Order: sequence, then C-alpha cells, then structure tokens
Amino acid sequence: MTANELRKKYLDFFESKGHTIIPSASLVPRETDGSTLFTTAGMHPLVPYLLGEQHPGGNRVANVQKCVRTGDIDDVGDNRHLTFFEMMGNWSFGDYFKKEAIQWSFEFLTNQKWLGLDKNRLYVTVFKGENGIPRDEEAIATWQKVFSDAGMDVEVAGEDEMIKNNVRIIPLGTDDNFWIAGATGPCGGDTEMFYDMRPEEGKLEGKFGDLVDSFRIMEIWNNVFMEFNKTAEGKYEKLAKPNVDTGMGVERTLTVLDGGYTVFETELFKPLFEKITEISGCGYQDSEETKKAFRIIADHIRASVFMIADGVTPLNTGAGYVLRRLIRRAVRYGKLIGIEKDFTVSVAEIVIQNFGDFYPELKKQREIIFAELKKEEDKFRKTLEKGLAILNKLYPIGVKQLENLEYSPVIGKDVDPEKVFDLYQTYGFPFEIIQEELKKRGFRAGEEEFERRMKKHQDLSRTASAGMFKGGLQDSGEDTRKLHTAAHLLLAALRQILGNHVFQKGSNITPERLRLDFSHGEKVAPEQLILIENLVNRAIDAKLDVLSEEMTLEQAKKIDAMGVFESKYGEKVTVYSIINDAGEVVSREICGGPHAKNTGELGNFKIQKEEASSSGVRRIKAVLT
Ligand code: SER
Repeated sequence: MTANELRKKYLDFFESKGHTIIPSASLVPRETDGSTLFTTAGMHPLVPYLLGEQHPGGNRVANVQKCVRTGDIDDVGDNRHLTFFEMMGNWSFGDYFKKEAIQWSFEFLTNQKWLGLDKNRLYVTVFKGENGIPRDEEAIATWQKVFSDAGMDVEVAGEDEMIKNNVRIIPLGTDDNFWIAGATGPCGGDTEMFYDMRPEEGKLEGKFGDLVDSFRIMEIWNNVFMEFNKTAEGKYEKLAKPNVDTGMGVERTLTVLDGGYTVFETELFKPLFEKITEISGCGYQDSEETKKAFRIIADHIRASVFMIADGVTPLNTGAGYVLRRLIRRAVRYGKLIGIEKDFTVSVAEIVIQNFGDFYPELKKQREIIFAELKKEEDKFRKTLEKGLAILNKLYPIGVKQLENLEYSPVIGKDVDPEKVFDLYQTYGFPFEIIQEELKKRGFRAGEEEFERRMKKHQDLSRTASAGMFKGGLQDSGEDTRKLHTAAHLLLAALRQILGNHVFQKGSNITPERLRLDFSHGEKVAPEQLILIENLVNRAIDAKLDVLSEEMTLEQAKKIDAMGVFESKYGEKVTVYSIINDAGEVVSREICGGPHAKNTGELGNFKIQKEEASSSGVRRIKAVLT
C-alpha cells in the first residue's frame, strides 16, 4: 500500500462513520500556548474544540496532521524514530466515546476492506488507574468484547505486565497510558495498539516493556479518552463532555502493512535514499554507519522542508534553531558518507515530489524552501572551512600519525584546550566535528570526555578569576539565597536562547542545588546549554545589583515582570530586577525572595542535568560552585 492509499483509506473509513475531513494545520502553532515550538500531535491545533468550542466541521472530524517532535532527535537513526511524521486522527468533540472508538479502530485495522491486518498479531494497552483516576474498565470490557466477537478468547495482564497464554490487554500506568500535550490542557487515559513485528519468532511471550524495547511489538495507534482538563495548579477538572483523540502514525502503519521492520524501508524514504546514493556513491545497506547517516539525512531534510514551508527560517533561537540544527546535522552526516558539495536542495526536491500532492504548500513554497536550505548549507560549510583552517594551523594533519606516538588524551599537553574551545565558541565549529578532526590527527577524542574537559577548564579559569573559594563558612540560608537569584538568571537565559515560549512551570531550591521546570517541547541541545550557562555566568561576572521593589500586581505586569501563579499573589508584590550596565533588564520577576544582593556573590553557575519533566516541560538542575 502506498502512503497516498493509506491516507485515503483512513479518511474514507472515518468519513463513512460520519466524520468531516479537515486539512492538516501548520507545523507552527498559530497561537503558541507557551508549551511547544511545533505542532507535536494531531490534537495540538484542536485544543480549543477539545475544551468545548464548536468546531465548524461538527462533532466528528478526521485528518492527517503534520507533526514535529525533536525530543527524540538523538534516537533518529534507529528503526523507528523520526523528527517529522504524519499522524492520522479521528476526533470526537463530546460525541462518541470509548466503545465506538475502540470498535472502529479494530474494524479499520483488521477488516479486509480496510487494512486487513492480522488480528492475532494485535496487542493493546489500557490505563490501569493512578492519581485518583480509576482503572479503565470500560476500555477493557470493550476490547474483550471486540476480540471475542472476532472469535478470540482474550485475557488481561496482571501487575507483572506479562504477556503469556491468551493475554492481549495490558493495563499500564500514567507514564505509558495517560496522554497530555504540554503541561496543561485536555487529557485522559488512553488505549494503545501494538503489532507483532516478528511472528516468525514464535509465540509472543514476555514482559510488555521488554517486547517493546526489543522491537518485537511496535505501537501503531493511540486512542485517547479525554475526560479532564489539567489546570496550571495541577488539578484535573472533569470536562463537561468527554472527547476522543486518536493518533495513528502514517510511517509506522506503512511499515506494518509492508511487512517490513523499519519506517525507513517504506516507500516514504526509498526515493530519498536513492537520491542520497546517487549523490554520495554509497549504498544505504553498505554498513551500519551508512544506514544511520542515510536515515538521519533523509529524516532531517524531510523535516526541514516541511518546517520552511510553514514559515520557519534558520535562526539561533526558538523554532529557527531547531531548523538550523536539523539542516546542519544533515550536512554533517552527509560529510560522513563523503558528500562535500551542496546537496540538501536535491534531496528536498524529492521530498517535494513525493509529498507535494497531499501537502500543496510544499509546491507553493518550493523556491523559498530551496533558497533557505542553500543559504544555511553555505553558511555552515563556510563555518566548517574556517574552523578547519584554524585547526590545521594548530594541529597540522598527519603529524601524530607520522610520529607514530601513542594516542594522547584530547586535552593533554598536546592540545591547547582554550584554543580548541575557542573554535567552538568564537567560530561556531561544531563539537562533533572538532572531535572527529582531532581523532584524525591522532588524538583520542571521546565525546563526553571532550565536553567534560572543556567545561572543567572553563569552570576552573572562571572560578579562579572570580576569586571564589568556598570555605564552608556560609550558612545554608546564604546558599539558598544565591541559588534563588541564579534561578532568575537561568529563566532569563532560557528565554533568551530558546525563545519567549519558555515560562517557569515549577522550581525547587535546596542549599545544594536549584531545580527549574520550564515549558519547552524539545530537548535542549548541549551547545545551547553551554550558551545558557555562559549567559548566566556573564551576568554573575558583571556583578550586578539585585534590586527589589514593592508594587501592585498591576504595576508589576505593566513593567513586564514575570510571575508564575498570579492567583497566589496578594495586592502588593515584590519585584526583583537585575539590570545590566547598559540599562537593559536582564531579569525581572515577581518573587517572594530572598535573594543575593549582588550577582557577583554567586560564584560559578553550572548546569548539571537537562531532562524531560513531563510532556512539553523540561527540567534543569544546576549548582553554584
Ligand atoms: N494525542 C495522542 C498522541 O499523540 C493521540 O493522537 O499519541
């Protein structure tokens, strides 16, 4: 089945069930609700209707939505992760609910008239109940009936989540079977459908999570039963009318229909790979490295084409930064398979050929897409050239190999860490390429070690220059105070580097460290973390006074003070401001304090960890040393 046939079948099926077919919304959320840079799921543009607004198409609609998720960017290259993907969805706005949704899913998947998939290869998860929300007995009973009507005797897994005997229904907790896009909004338990990818290996048995990890089963469809609205205070309010939100990946479903094992071997990627072979002279199957490079190049250029068509341009912040990173990563992986000339435009051409019929915006924006790709690729190649020239001067290629010495550690007496770091900081030469180039010159260049040493060096020089030596004399209250101020500087830096969609979603400060949760849909790249850290440290080095002022909430809003939970504040609030020597506001927040008097007291700011906190919310842990 081709992608066009699959999309059509899906839309035809739901049209036959009374749904209005609506077009995909833009990849860039029109009104950012502050939680994501891109449309990350089909439900995203439909949130107002899920909260009760009347949809012009009625109470039942179906669509194929363009989505981008970059939280998994480092996983692209395996058999199923993508940054751009298409999600087919059927929607009930306060109309039908669990029974119909589940029955139709089963019918569409297994009926010969539709996808005709093997019902014996189907497994489903349901919400087991948690956080005061009960187990989804209705979903379980409906699945049992659906299977039994199809002549199958089906059991429900226990707490051990083991699939054995006739088990096909597996209850799981919030992490797996409770869906929310972003930090707040409509949400609820879900039921997910998985397909056995390798029945030739015999009867499927084992712990559910292990079977997913080993790719024996793969998720193809998710039906979310939205019953709640999660508020900013973390409360789950029951919606007046419950909704259904389903999401079925085009790429994964095609994989399953093809009887294949990876999304990259479907017809969505084959023509892209052919083009990459033509340009590079390498084959996709040549080695594990070429496979990975082909997948990353194809995925990233596909995503870039769709982003540019929706108005994103390469920049150093926000959505533009994600685009820049995708294009540069594609070029970098191109280099790894020997592509030294501009090539992103020729791959983009194939993307437009293959997707332009269903997504006419690609054809319309064709010239802009090519122009932006070319500009960014040129810029990046120039950066690389300049960096390489400097590196060649520092460490002429071949010297080490000629001397046949043992490999030195990256930052040993042979490499001047400051100069190498300068390559990154001043010339924007990517870390990964510095590492590769050092390796070529005979230096051992372990990724983590390199980064760690770079940072350590930075820290050491900064700590020394600031004359900060902690004697353990300060009491813990003092430490908390400083971390509090650091948290303000961090939030300001996050907004500057990532964009103004970043808001504080929570924080927790102990005398040892600070923890800040903030709205951002993507993983923060290591190089962005460094920029953020540097911004905070710059404000510290500038020894700026922390000013506090009492005023009314209205006045605070007028001067753009940031605040987290307005409702918590009384009439009078305290606003803490940090203003630089140029008179610009570095940070301004409504806060109860206490704070350091001057940023110079803070010492050295260091991010220890960046991770997901919940969907659409990231968490940073940081310390002052
Ligand atoms: N919102 C759900 C998901 O993205 C179902 O569409 O998986």
